[in-house]
Amino acid sequence: MSNSNKKLLITTALPYANGSIHLGHILEHIQADIFVRFQRMLGRDVTFVCADDQHGSPIMIKAQQLGKTPEEMIAEVEQEHQRDFAGFGISYDNYYRTNSPENQEISNFIYNNLKDKGYIQVRKISQLFDPEKQMFLPDRFVKGTCPKCKAQDQYGDNCEVCGATYSPTELINPYSSISGATPVLKESEHYFFDLPKFQEFLKDWVKNDTIPTEMVNKLQEWFESGLQQWDISRDAPYFGFKIPGTENKYFYVWLDAPVGYLASFKNYFDKKGIDFASMMNKDANTELCHFIGKDILYFHSLFWPAVLHGVDLKTPDKIFVHGYVTVNGAKMSKSKGTFIKASTYLKHFNPECLRYYYAAKMNGKIDDLDLNLEDFVAKVNSDIVNKLVNLASRTAGFITKLFNGKLASNIGEDELFKKFLDKKASIEESYNKREFSKVIREVMALADEANRYVDEKAPWVMAKDESLREELQKVCTASLNLYRILISYMLPILPELAKKSADFLNIELTWDSIEKQLLDTEIKPFKALFARIDMKTVEAMQQDSLKDLAAQKPSKE
Ligand code: 2FM
Ligand code: ZN
Repeated sequence: MSNSNKKLLITTALPYANGSIHLGHILEHIQADIFVRFQRMLGRDVTFVCADDQHGSPIMIKAQQLGKTPEEMIAEVEQEHQRDFAGFGISYDNYYRTNSPENQEISNFIYNNLKDKGYIQVRKISQLFDPEKQMFLPDRFVKGTCPKCKAQDQYGDNCEVCGATYSPTELINPYSSISGATPVLKESEHYFFDLPKFQEFLKDWVKNDTIPTEMVNKLQEWFESGLQQWDISRDAPYFGFKIPGTENKYFYVWLDAPVGYLASFKNYFDKKGIDFASMMNKDANTELCHFIGKDILYFHSLFWPAVLHGVDLKTPDKIFVHGYVTVNGAKMSKSKGTFIKASTYLKHFNPECLRYYYAAKMNGKIDDLDLNLEDFVAKVNSDIVNKLVNLASRTAGFITKLFNGKLASNIGEDELFKKFLDKKASIEESYNKREFSKVIREVMALADEANRYVDEKAPWVMAKDESLREELQKVCTASLNLYRILISYMLPILPELAKKSADFLNIELTWDSIEKQLLDTEIKPFKALFARIDMKTVEAMQQDSLKDLAAQKPSKE
Protein backbone atom coordinates (compact mmCIF):
# COMPACT_ATOMS: atom_id res chain seq x y z
CA MET A 1 0.00 0.00 0.00
CA SER A 2 1.18 3.46 -0.73
CA ASN A 3 0.57 5.71 2.22
CA SER A 4 0.65 4.08 5.59
CA ASN A 5 -1.02 6.85 7.59
CA LYS A 6 -4.18 6.92 5.51
CA LYS A 7 -7.28 5.18 6.77
CA LEU A 8 -8.22 2.29 4.54
CA LEU A 9 -11.75 1.91 3.20
CA ILE A 10 -12.07 -1.51 1.64
CA THR A 11 -14.95 -3.13 -0.22
CA THR A 12 -15.79 -6.29 -2.12
CA ALA A 13 -18.32 -6.34 -4.96
CA LEU A 14 -21.88 -6.49 -3.73
CA PRO A 15 -23.47 -9.88 -4.46
CA TYR A 16 -26.87 -9.89 -6.15
CA ALA A 17 -29.72 -10.82 -3.85
CA ASN A 18 -31.24 -13.42 -6.15
CA GLY A 19 -28.86 -16.30 -5.72
CA SER A 20 -26.57 -18.14 -3.37
CA ILE A 21 -22.93 -17.44 -2.76
CA HIS A 22 -20.76 -20.02 -4.52
CA LEU A 23 -17.07 -20.83 -4.54
CA GLY A 24 -16.56 -18.39 -7.42
CA HIS A 25 -17.78 -15.48 -5.28
CA ILE A 26 -15.84 -16.64 -2.25
CA LEU A 27 -12.48 -16.12 -3.97
CA GLU A 28 -12.84 -12.34 -3.87
CA HIS A 29 -14.08 -12.23 -0.29
CA ILE A 30 -11.19 -14.42 0.85
CA GLN A 31 -8.69 -12.33 -1.09
CA ALA A 32 -9.95 -9.08 0.41
CA ASP A 33 -10.21 -10.58 3.89
CA ILE A 34 -6.60 -11.77 3.86
CA PHE A 35 -5.48 -8.33 2.77
CA VAL A 36 -7.61 -6.64 5.43
CA ARG A 37 -6.48 -8.94 8.23
CA PHE A 38 -2.89 -8.27 7.30
CA GLN A 39 -3.40 -4.49 7.32
CA ARG A 40 -5.10 -4.77 10.72
CA MET A 41 -2.15 -6.81 11.96
CA LEU A 42 0.13 -3.97 10.92
CA GLY A 43 -2.03 -1.69 13.04
CA ARG A 44 -3.63 0.21 10.20
CA ASP A 45 -7.07 1.73 10.55
CA VAL A 46 -9.25 -0.34 8.21
CA THR A 47 -12.97 -0.32 7.53
CA PHE A 48 -14.03 -3.35 5.53
CA VAL A 49 -17.57 -3.46 4.17
CA CYS A 50 -19.86 -5.18 1.74
CA ALA A 51 -23.63 -5.30 1.16
CA ASP A 52 -26.24 -7.12 -0.83
CA ASP A 53 -27.08 -5.70 -4.26
CA GLN A 54 -30.86 -5.87 -4.04
CA HIS A 55 -32.41 -3.95 -6.92
CA GLY A 56 -33.16 -4.56 -10.59
CA SER A 57 -35.37 -6.60 -12.90
CA PRO A 58 -33.82 -10.04 -12.32
CA ILE A 59 -34.51 -9.71 -8.60
CA MET A 60 -38.04 -8.49 -9.15
CA ILE A 61 -38.75 -11.36 -11.57
CA LYS A 62 -37.17 -14.04 -9.41
CA ALA A 63 -39.29 -12.93 -6.43
CA GLN A 64 -42.41 -13.14 -8.60
CA GLN A 65 -41.48 -16.65 -9.67
CA LEU A 66 -41.05 -17.65 -6.04
CA GLY A 67 -44.40 -16.08 -5.15
CA LYS A 68 -42.73 -13.63 -2.78
CA THR A 69 -42.43 -9.89 -2.58
CA PRO A 70 -38.95 -8.60 -3.50
CA GLU A 71 -38.62 -7.37 0.08
CA GLU A 72 -39.29 -10.84 1.49
CA MET A 73 -36.86 -12.48 -0.88
CA ILE A 74 -34.00 -10.03 -0.37
CA ALA A 75 -34.36 -10.26 3.41
CA GLU A 76 -34.00 -14.04 3.27
CA VAL A 77 -31.10 -13.93 0.83
CA GLU A 78 -29.31 -11.35 2.94
CA GLN A 79 -29.39 -13.66 5.95
CA GLU A 80 -28.04 -16.50 3.88
CA HIS A 81 -25.23 -14.40 2.37
CA GLN A 82 -24.18 -13.09 5.76
CA ARG A 83 -24.12 -16.59 7.18
CA ASP A 84 -21.98 -17.85 4.31
CA PHE A 85 -19.43 -15.04 4.62
CA ALA A 86 -19.22 -15.47 8.37
CA GLY A 87 -18.74 -19.20 7.75
CA PHE A 88 -15.62 -18.45 5.72
CA GLY A 89 -14.31 -16.09 8.39
CA ILE A 90 -14.71 -12.96 6.28
CA SER A 91 -14.25 -10.22 8.82
CA TYR A 92 -16.56 -7.48 7.60
CA ASP A 93 -16.96 -4.49 9.85
CA ASN A 94 -20.33 -3.99 8.21
CA TYR A 95 -22.50 -5.99 5.83
CA TYR A 96 -25.37 -3.86 4.63
CA ARG A 97 -27.92 -3.56 1.81
CA THR A 98 -28.64 -1.35 -1.17
CA ASN A 99 -32.35 -1.27 -0.38
CA SER A 100 -31.68 1.05 2.56
CA PRO A 101 -32.46 4.62 3.56
CA GLU A 102 -28.77 5.55 3.47
CA ASN A 103 -28.46 4.30 -0.09
CA GLN A 104 -31.55 6.16 -1.22
CA GLU A 105 -30.36 9.35 0.42
CA ILE A 106 -26.87 9.19 -1.14
CA SER A 107 -28.20 8.10 -4.56
CA ASN A 108 -30.63 11.02 -4.58
CA PHE A 109 -27.91 13.42 -3.50
CA ILE A 110 -25.63 12.17 -6.28
CA TYR A 111 -28.36 12.37 -8.91
CA ASN A 112 -29.55 15.85 -7.89
CA ASN A 113 -26.01 17.15 -7.75
CA LEU A 114 -25.15 15.72 -11.18
CA LYS A 115 -28.37 17.17 -12.56
CA ASP A 116 -27.70 20.62 -11.11
CA LYS A 117 -24.28 20.57 -12.74
CA GLY A 118 -25.72 19.68 -16.14
CA TYR A 119 -24.43 16.12 -16.27
CA ILE A 120 -27.85 14.51 -16.78
CA GLN A 121 -29.50 14.48 -20.22
CA VAL A 122 -33.05 13.39 -20.95
CA ARG A 123 -34.18 11.91 -24.26
CA LYS A 124 -36.54 9.35 -25.71
CA ILE A 125 -35.40 5.91 -26.81
CA SER A 126 -37.19 2.86 -28.21
CA GLN A 127 -36.88 -0.49 -26.50
CA LEU A 128 -38.48 -3.90 -26.60
CA PHE A 129 -41.61 -4.11 -24.48
CA ASP A 130 -43.50 -7.18 -23.33
CA PRO A 131 -47.16 -6.41 -24.15
CA GLU A 132 -48.42 -9.19 -21.90
CA LYS A 133 -46.34 -8.34 -18.83
CA GLN A 134 -46.61 -4.62 -19.61
CA MET A 135 -42.94 -4.07 -18.99
CA PHE A 136 -39.77 -3.15 -20.85
CA LEU A 137 -37.48 -6.12 -21.26
CA PRO A 138 -33.85 -6.07 -20.14
CA ASP A 139 -31.61 -7.62 -22.84
CA ARG A 140 -31.23 -10.92 -21.04
CA PHE A 141 -34.97 -11.42 -20.89
CA VAL A 142 -35.36 -11.29 -24.66
CA LYS A 143 -34.51 -14.44 -26.59
CA GLY A 144 -34.63 -15.38 -30.24
CA THR A 145 -32.70 -16.62 -33.24
CA CYS A 146 -29.15 -15.32 -33.69
CA PRO A 147 -29.03 -12.91 -36.65
CA LYS A 148 -25.56 -14.20 -37.61
CA CYS A 149 -25.53 -17.99 -37.26
CA LYS A 150 -29.28 -18.55 -36.90
CA ALA A 151 -28.91 -20.56 -33.68
CA GLN A 152 -32.23 -20.61 -31.81
CA ASP A 153 -32.99 -19.48 -28.26
CA GLN A 154 -30.10 -17.05 -27.89
CA TYR A 155 -30.05 -14.15 -25.42
CA GLY A 156 -30.81 -10.61 -26.48
CA ASP A 157 -27.25 -9.31 -26.32
CA ASN A 158 -25.00 -12.13 -27.51
CA CYS A 159 -25.03 -15.56 -29.08
CA GLU A 160 -23.57 -18.40 -27.05
CA VAL A 161 -23.07 -20.46 -30.20
CA CYS A 162 -21.12 -18.11 -32.51
CA GLY A 163 -20.16 -15.41 -29.99
CA ALA A 164 -21.75 -12.56 -31.97
CA THR A 165 -22.87 -9.48 -30.03
CA TYR A 166 -25.89 -7.49 -31.19
CA SER A 167 -28.81 -5.48 -29.99
CA PRO A 168 -32.00 -7.36 -28.95
CA THR A 169 -33.89 -5.66 -31.78
CA GLU A 170 -31.71 -7.55 -34.27
CA LEU A 171 -32.85 -11.01 -33.05
CA ILE A 172 -34.95 -13.00 -35.49
CA ASN A 173 -38.34 -14.07 -34.03
CA PRO A 174 -37.70 -12.48 -30.64
CA TYR A 175 -39.78 -13.55 -27.65
CA SER A 176 -40.01 -12.51 -24.01
CA SER A 177 -38.48 -15.18 -21.81
CA ILE A 178 -40.85 -14.10 -19.03
CA SER A 179 -44.20 -14.47 -20.81
CA GLY A 180 -43.29 -15.94 -24.20
CA ALA A 181 -45.03 -12.98 -25.92
CA THR A 182 -43.53 -11.29 -28.98
CA PRO A 183 -42.07 -8.01 -27.82
CA VAL A 184 -42.94 -4.75 -29.52
CA LEU A 185 -40.83 -1.59 -29.82
CA LYS A 186 -42.00 1.17 -27.54
CA GLU A 187 -40.67 4.65 -26.87
CA SER A 188 -40.01 6.14 -23.47
CA GLU A 189 -38.03 8.92 -21.87
CA HIS A 190 -34.67 7.98 -20.34
CA TYR A 191 -32.12 9.76 -18.18
CA PHE A 192 -28.49 9.65 -19.18
CA PHE A 193 -25.30 10.40 -17.31
CA ASP A 194 -22.98 12.42 -19.55
CA LEU A 195 -19.95 10.16 -19.29
CA PRO A 196 -18.09 11.66 -22.31
CA LYS A 197 -17.65 14.90 -20.33
CA PHE A 198 -15.38 12.94 -17.95
CA GLN A 199 -13.00 11.52 -20.50
CA GLU A 200 -10.11 13.83 -19.59
CA PHE A 201 -10.61 13.27 -15.88
CA LEU A 202 -10.67 9.49 -16.40
CA LYS A 203 -7.50 9.56 -18.49
CA ASP A 204 -5.73 11.24 -15.57
CA TRP A 205 -7.34 9.04 -12.95
CA VAL A 206 -6.09 5.90 -14.63
CA LYS A 207 -2.52 7.21 -14.65
CA ASN A 208 -2.32 7.08 -10.87
CA ASP A 209 -1.87 3.34 -10.65
CA THR A 210 -5.54 2.95 -9.81
CA ILE A 211 -6.23 -0.11 -11.95
CA PRO A 212 -3.99 -3.10 -12.71
CA THR A 213 -1.44 -2.36 -15.43
CA GLU A 214 -2.77 -5.30 -17.48
CA MET A 215 -6.12 -3.49 -17.69
CA VAL A 216 -4.85 -0.04 -18.66
CA ASN A 217 -4.81 -0.99 -22.35
CA LYS A 218 -8.41 -2.11 -22.12
CA LEU A 219 -9.31 1.34 -20.87
CA GLN A 220 -7.36 3.00 -23.68
CA GLU A 221 -9.44 0.94 -26.12
CA TRP A 222 -12.62 2.16 -24.48
CA PHE A 223 -11.40 5.76 -24.67
CA GLU A 224 -10.49 5.34 -28.32
CA SER A 225 -13.82 3.86 -29.30
CA GLY A 226 -15.43 6.86 -27.58
CA LEU A 227 -17.34 6.95 -24.31
CA GLN A 228 -21.12 6.85 -24.55
CA GLN A 229 -23.73 8.51 -22.41
CA TRP A 230 -24.92 6.05 -19.79
CA ASP A 231 -28.61 5.27 -19.37
CA ILE A 232 -29.27 5.43 -15.62
CA SER A 233 -33.07 5.12 -15.68
CA ARG A 234 -35.57 2.29 -16.00
CA ASP A 235 -39.33 2.35 -16.39
CA ALA A 236 -41.84 0.94 -13.95
CA PRO A 237 -42.38 -1.82 -12.98
CA TYR A 238 -38.92 -1.95 -11.48
CA PHE A 239 -37.62 -2.86 -8.04
CA GLY A 240 -35.42 0.06 -7.03
CA PHE A 241 -35.45 3.74 -6.04
CA LYS A 242 -37.70 6.19 -7.83
CA ILE A 243 -35.73 8.99 -9.50
CA PRO A 244 -36.49 12.26 -7.67
CA GLY A 245 -38.80 14.54 -9.62
CA THR A 246 -40.17 11.77 -11.86
CA GLU A 247 -43.45 9.87 -11.79
CA ASN A 248 -42.46 6.37 -12.79
CA LYS A 249 -38.72 6.28 -13.49
CA TYR A 250 -36.30 4.29 -11.38
CA PHE A 251 -32.54 4.33 -10.98
CA TYR A 252 -30.95 1.54 -13.00
CA VAL A 253 -29.51 -0.99 -10.51
CA TRP A 254 -25.93 -0.20 -11.58
CA LEU A 255 -26.40 3.41 -10.54
CA ASP A 256 -27.25 2.64 -6.93
CA ALA A 257 -25.15 -0.56 -6.55
CA PRO A 258 -21.75 1.12 -6.12
CA VAL A 259 -23.44 3.83 -4.09
CA GLY A 260 -24.22 0.86 -1.84
CA TYR A 261 -20.53 0.86 -0.88
CA LEU A 262 -20.97 4.37 0.49
CA ALA A 263 -24.26 3.44 2.15
CA SER A 264 -22.56 0.58 3.97
CA PHE A 265 -19.74 2.87 5.12
CA LYS A 266 -22.23 5.51 6.20
CA ASN A 267 -24.35 3.04 8.13
CA TYR A 268 -21.22 1.83 9.92
CA PHE A 269 -19.72 5.26 10.59
CA ASP A 270 -23.05 6.54 11.93
CA LYS A 271 -23.14 3.66 14.42
CA LYS A 272 -19.55 4.44 15.44
CA GLY A 273 -20.05 8.21 15.64
CA ILE A 274 -17.57 8.83 12.81
CA ASP A 275 -18.32 11.66 10.39
CA PHE A 276 -19.05 10.11 6.98
CA ALA A 277 -18.27 13.29 5.04
CA SER A 278 -14.81 13.57 6.55
CA MET A 279 -14.03 10.06 5.27
CA MET A 280 -15.46 10.51 1.79
CA ASN A 281 -14.85 14.11 0.73
CA LYS A 282 -12.37 14.49 -2.06
CA ASP A 283 -9.51 15.56 0.21
CA ALA A 284 -10.17 12.98 2.93
CA ASN A 285 -7.11 11.30 4.39
CA THR A 286 -8.43 7.90 3.34
CA GLU A 287 -7.62 5.32 0.72
CA LEU A 288 -10.62 3.80 -1.03
CA CYS A 289 -9.95 0.31 -2.43
CA HIS A 290 -12.44 -1.88 -4.31
CA PHE A 291 -11.87 -5.60 -4.83
CA ILE A 292 -13.74 -6.74 -7.96
CA GLY A 293 -13.81 -9.40 -10.67
CA LYS A 294 -12.68 -8.53 -14.17
CA ASP A 295 -16.24 -8.67 -15.53
CA ILE A 296 -17.25 -5.47 -13.76
CA LEU A 297 -14.18 -3.36 -14.43
CA TYR A 298 -16.13 -1.26 -16.91
CA PHE A 299 -18.46 -0.02 -14.19
CA HIS A 300 -15.70 0.56 -11.67
CA SER A 301 -13.17 2.25 -13.92
CA LEU A 302 -15.48 4.51 -15.94
CA PHE A 303 -18.92 5.24 -14.47
CA TRP A 304 -18.09 5.01 -10.81
CA PRO A 305 -15.02 7.30 -10.66
CA ALA A 306 -16.73 9.73 -13.05
CA VAL A 307 -19.90 9.86 -10.91
CA LEU A 308 -17.88 10.42 -7.73
CA HIS A 309 -15.74 13.08 -9.38
CA GLY A 310 -18.88 14.74 -10.74
CA VAL A 311 -20.20 15.26 -7.21
CA ASP A 312 -16.82 16.14 -5.66
CA LEU A 313 -16.55 13.00 -3.58
CA LYS A 314 -13.44 10.94 -3.15
CA THR A 315 -12.65 8.79 -6.20
CA PRO A 316 -11.33 5.23 -5.84
CA ASP A 317 -7.62 4.96 -5.13
CA LYS A 318 -7.29 1.29 -6.04
CA ILE A 319 -9.34 -1.16 -8.04
CA PHE A 320 -7.95 -4.64 -7.32
CA VAL A 321 -9.10 -7.01 -10.05
CA HIS A 322 -9.15 -10.80 -10.02
CA GLY A 323 -10.06 -13.46 -12.59
CA TYR A 324 -12.64 -16.23 -12.50
CA VAL A 325 -12.61 -19.51 -10.63
CA THR A 326 -12.58 -22.71 -12.65
CA VAL A 327 -13.03 -26.13 -11.04
CA ASN A 328 -10.93 -29.06 -12.30
CA GLY A 329 -9.85 -26.93 -15.25
CA ALA A 330 -13.33 -26.05 -16.52
CA LYS A 331 -16.09 -23.53 -15.94
CA MET A 332 -18.09 -24.44 -12.82
CA SER A 333 -20.79 -26.80 -13.97
CA LYS A 334 -24.08 -27.61 -12.27
CA SER A 335 -24.40 -30.97 -13.99
CA LYS A 336 -20.87 -32.06 -13.06
CA GLY A 337 -21.39 -31.11 -9.43
CA THR A 338 -18.62 -28.48 -9.61
CA PHE A 339 -21.00 -25.57 -9.13
CA ILE A 340 -20.49 -25.61 -5.40
CA LYS A 341 -22.38 -23.31 -3.08
CA ALA A 342 -20.52 -21.80 -0.15
CA SER A 343 -22.96 -23.42 2.27
CA THR A 344 -22.51 -26.84 0.66
CA TYR A 345 -18.73 -26.55 0.95
CA LEU A 346 -19.06 -25.57 4.61
CA LYS A 347 -21.09 -28.68 5.39
CA HIS A 348 -18.11 -30.79 4.38
CA PHE A 349 -14.90 -28.86 4.92
CA ASN A 350 -13.14 -26.49 7.24
CA PRO A 351 -13.28 -23.03 5.60
CA GLU A 352 -9.54 -22.63 6.15
CA CYS A 353 -8.78 -25.39 3.64
CA LEU A 354 -10.20 -23.25 0.87
CA ARG A 355 -8.75 -20.01 2.25
CA TYR A 356 -5.37 -21.73 2.14
CA TYR A 357 -5.78 -23.26 -1.31
CA TYR A 358 -7.00 -20.04 -2.91
CA ALA A 359 -4.27 -18.02 -1.21
CA ALA A 360 -1.66 -20.47 -2.49
CA LYS A 361 -2.76 -19.56 -6.00
CA MET A 362 -3.25 -15.82 -5.63
CA ASN A 363 -0.52 -13.78 -7.26
CA GLY A 364 -2.23 -10.38 -7.32
CA LYS A 365 -2.83 -10.69 -11.06
CA ILE A 366 -6.08 -11.09 -12.98
CA ASP A 367 -5.42 -14.65 -14.13
CA ASP A 368 -8.19 -17.17 -13.59
CA LEU A 369 -7.67 -19.52 -10.69
CA ASP A 370 -8.27 -23.25 -10.92
CA LEU A 371 -9.64 -25.16 -7.96
CA ASN A 372 -8.39 -28.64 -8.73
CA LEU A 373 -10.13 -30.79 -6.17
CA GLU A 374 -7.49 -33.52 -5.99
CA ASP A 375 -4.72 -30.98 -5.70
CA PHE A 376 -6.80 -29.20 -3.04
CA VAL A 377 -6.85 -32.32 -0.85
CA ALA A 378 -3.18 -33.09 -1.47
CA LYS A 379 -2.00 -29.55 -0.77
CA VAL A 380 -3.99 -29.04 2.40
CA ASN A 381 -2.72 -32.32 3.83
CA SER A 382 0.89 -31.92 2.77
CA ASP A 383 1.26 -28.25 3.70
CA ILE A 384 -0.99 -27.47 6.62
CA VAL A 385 -1.12 -30.86 8.31
CA ASN A 386 2.21 -32.50 7.46
CA LYS A 387 4.44 -29.45 7.45
CA LEU A 388 3.00 -26.61 9.49
CA VAL A 389 0.92 -28.15 12.27
CA ASN A 390 3.28 -31.11 12.45
CA LEU A 391 5.92 -28.81 13.91
CA ALA A 392 3.76 -28.18 16.93
CA SER A 393 2.19 -31.61 17.23
CA ARG A 394 5.47 -33.51 17.25
CA THR A 395 7.05 -31.45 20.03
CA ALA A 396 4.29 -29.99 22.23
CA GLY A 397 3.51 -33.35 23.87
CA PHE A 398 6.99 -33.59 25.42
CA ILE A 399 6.65 -30.15 26.97
CA THR A 400 3.32 -31.14 28.50
CA LYS A 401 4.35 -34.58 29.70
CA LEU A 402 7.93 -34.07 30.80
CA PHE A 403 8.11 -30.40 31.76
CA ASN A 404 4.64 -29.63 33.17
CA GLY A 405 3.94 -27.44 30.15
CA LYS A 406 6.93 -25.20 30.81
CA LEU A 407 9.11 -23.94 27.98
CA ALA A 408 12.90 -23.68 28.27
CA SER A 409 14.41 -20.37 29.34
CA ASN A 410 16.79 -20.18 26.41
CA ILE A 411 17.15 -21.85 23.05
CA GLY A 412 20.26 -20.79 21.18
CA GLU A 413 19.99 -21.65 17.46
CA ASP A 414 20.49 -17.98 16.62
CA GLU A 415 21.25 -18.59 12.98
CA LEU A 416 18.14 -20.64 12.41
CA PHE A 417 15.95 -17.99 14.06
CA LYS A 418 17.61 -15.20 12.14
CA LYS A 419 16.75 -16.96 8.91
CA PHE A 420 13.08 -17.16 9.91
CA LEU A 421 12.92 -13.53 10.98
CA ASP A 422 14.80 -12.25 7.94
CA LYS A 423 11.82 -13.26 5.84
CA LYS A 424 9.48 -10.91 7.69
CA ALA A 425 10.08 -7.91 5.40
CA SER A 426 9.55 -9.83 2.18
CA ILE A 427 6.43 -11.51 3.56
CA GLU A 428 5.09 -8.08 4.46
CA GLU A 429 5.78 -6.86 0.95
CA SER A 430 4.07 -9.88 -0.59
CA TYR A 431 0.96 -9.34 1.53
CA ASN A 432 0.86 -5.71 0.50
CA LYS A 433 1.08 -6.68 -3.15
CA ARG A 434 -1.58 -9.36 -2.63
CA GLU A 435 0.93 -12.00 -3.72
CA PHE A 436 -0.28 -14.52 -1.18
CA SER A 437 1.16 -17.42 -3.16
CA LYS A 438 4.59 -15.99 -2.43
CA VAL A 439 3.84 -15.73 1.29
CA ILE A 440 2.89 -19.39 1.29
CA ARG A 441 5.95 -20.46 -0.68
CA GLU A 442 8.22 -18.68 1.79
CA VAL A 443 6.42 -20.03 4.84
CA MET A 444 6.40 -23.60 3.54
CA ALA A 445 10.10 -23.45 2.68
CA LEU A 446 10.72 -22.35 6.27
CA ALA A 447 8.44 -25.10 7.58
CA ASP A 448 10.52 -27.65 5.66
CA GLU A 449 13.60 -26.25 7.28
CA ALA A 450 12.09 -26.34 10.74
CA ASN A 451 11.01 -29.95 10.26
CA ARG A 452 14.51 -30.86 9.11
CA TYR A 453 15.83 -29.32 12.30
CA VAL A 454 13.44 -31.43 14.39
CA ASP A 455 14.25 -34.56 12.35
CA GLU A 456 17.94 -34.05 12.99
CA LYS A 457 17.48 -33.49 16.71
CA ALA A 458 15.00 -36.39 16.99
CA PRO A 459 13.38 -35.39 20.29
CA TRP A 460 11.58 -38.78 20.44
CA VAL A 461 15.01 -40.40 20.79
CA MET A 462 16.21 -37.83 23.34
CA ALA A 463 13.10 -38.46 25.40
CA LYS A 464 14.33 -41.95 26.14
CA ASP A 465 17.47 -40.63 27.79
CA GLU A 466 16.97 -38.94 31.20
CA SER A 467 20.33 -37.19 30.94
CA LEU A 468 19.17 -35.23 27.88
CA ARG A 469 16.17 -33.56 29.53
CA GLU A 470 17.51 -30.02 29.29
CA GLU A 471 18.46 -30.44 25.65
CA LEU A 472 15.07 -31.98 24.89
CA GLN A 473 13.24 -29.03 26.44
CA LYS A 474 15.33 -26.63 24.35
CA VAL A 475 14.67 -28.46 21.08
CA CYS A 476 10.93 -28.60 21.73
CA THR A 477 10.90 -24.93 22.75
CA ALA A 478 12.80 -24.07 19.57
CA SER A 479 10.36 -26.04 17.43
CA LEU A 480 7.35 -24.38 19.07
CA ASN A 481 8.90 -20.96 18.59
CA LEU A 482 9.53 -21.66 14.92
CA TYR A 483 5.90 -22.72 14.69
CA ARG A 484 4.86 -19.50 16.46
CA ILE A 485 6.73 -17.42 13.87
CA LEU A 486 5.22 -19.31 10.96
CA ILE A 487 1.67 -19.27 12.24
CA SER A 488 2.02 -15.54 12.90
CA TYR A 489 3.03 -15.09 9.26
CA MET A 490 0.01 -17.16 8.24
CA LEU A 491 -2.55 -15.49 10.51
CA PRO A 492 -4.28 -13.46 7.77
CA ILE A 493 -4.74 -16.62 5.70
CA LEU A 494 -5.57 -19.09 8.50
CA PRO A 495 -7.12 -16.97 11.28
CA GLU A 496 -8.86 -19.86 13.07
CA LEU A 497 -5.79 -22.03 13.15
CA ALA A 498 -3.82 -19.02 14.36
CA LYS A 499 -6.40 -18.42 17.08
CA LYS A 500 -6.26 -22.02 18.29
CA SER A 501 -2.47 -21.90 18.18
CA ALA A 502 -2.35 -18.67 20.15
CA ASP A 503 -4.64 -20.26 22.69
CA PHE A 504 -2.46 -23.31 23.21
CA LEU A 505 0.73 -21.23 23.25
CA ASN A 506 -0.99 -18.97 25.74
CA ILE A 507 -0.08 -15.74 23.94
CA GLU A 508 -1.42 -13.23 21.47
CA LEU A 509 -0.01 -13.41 17.97
CA THR A 510 0.86 -9.98 16.63
CA TRP A 511 3.09 -8.74 13.83
CA ASP A 512 5.18 -6.72 16.26
CA SER A 513 5.81 -9.58 18.65
CA ILE A 514 7.09 -12.05 16.06
CA GLU A 515 10.72 -11.44 17.07
CA LYS A 516 10.01 -11.93 20.75
CA GLN A 517 10.87 -15.48 21.75
CA LEU A 518 8.46 -17.36 23.92
CA LEU A 519 10.55 -18.70 26.81
CA ASP A 520 10.22 -19.84 30.39
CA THR A 521 6.45 -19.79 30.28
CA GLU A 522 3.68 -22.36 30.41
CA ILE A 523 1.77 -23.56 27.39
CA LYS A 524 -1.57 -25.40 27.48
CA PRO A 525 -1.89 -29.09 26.62
CA PHE A 526 -1.80 -29.60 22.88
CA LYS A 527 -5.06 -30.51 21.16
CA ALA A 528 -5.33 -31.49 17.50
CA LEU A 529 -5.22 -28.27 15.50
CA PHE A 530 -6.16 -29.30 12.00
CA ALA A 531 -7.76 -32.43 10.56
CA ARG A 532 -6.61 -34.17 7.38
CA ILE A 533 -9.06 -34.16 4.49
CA ASP A 534 -9.81 -36.77 1.82
CA MET A 535 -11.31 -37.30 -1.61
CA LYS A 536 -14.31 -39.10 -0.13
CA THR A 537 -15.44 -35.83 1.38
CA VAL A 538 -14.92 -34.09 -1.96
CA GLU A 539 -17.17 -36.68 -3.59
CA ALA A 540 -19.83 -36.21 -0.92
CA MET A 541 -19.68 -32.43 -1.48
CA GLN A 542 -20.13 -32.91 -5.22
CA GLN A 543 -23.06 -35.26 -4.65
CA ASP A 544 -24.64 -32.63 -2.44
CA SER A 545 -24.08 -30.01 -5.14
CA LEU A 546 -25.95 -32.17 -7.62
CA LYS A 547 -28.79 -32.44 -5.08
CA ASP A 548 -28.85 -28.63 -4.74
CA LEU A 549 -29.34 -28.48 -8.48
CA ALA A 550 -32.18 -31.00 -8.43
CA ALA A 551 -33.86 -29.02 -5.65
CA GLN A 552 -33.70 -25.82 -7.72
CA LYS A 553 -35.22 -27.34 -10.87
CA PRO A 554 -38.95 -26.74 -10.14
CA SER A 555 -38.59 -22.95 -10.18
CA LYS A 556 -38.71 -21.90 -13.83
CA GLU A 557 -35.70 -19.72 -14.66
O1 2FM B 1 -21.80 -8.14 -10.73
C1 2FM B 1 -22.36 -8.20 -9.65
O2 2FM B 1 -22.50 -9.25 -9.02
C2 2FM B 1 -22.88 -6.91 -9.04
N1 2FM B 1 -23.92 -7.21 -8.10
C3 2FM B 1 -21.72 -6.21 -8.39
C4 2FM B 1 -22.03 -4.88 -7.85
S1 2FM B 1 -20.61 -4.23 -7.24
C5 2FM B 1 -20.95 -2.68 -6.82
F1 2FM B 1 -20.80 -1.86 -7.74
F2 2FM B 1 -21.95 -2.56 -6.13
ZN1 ZN C 1 -24.87 -16.99 -33.42
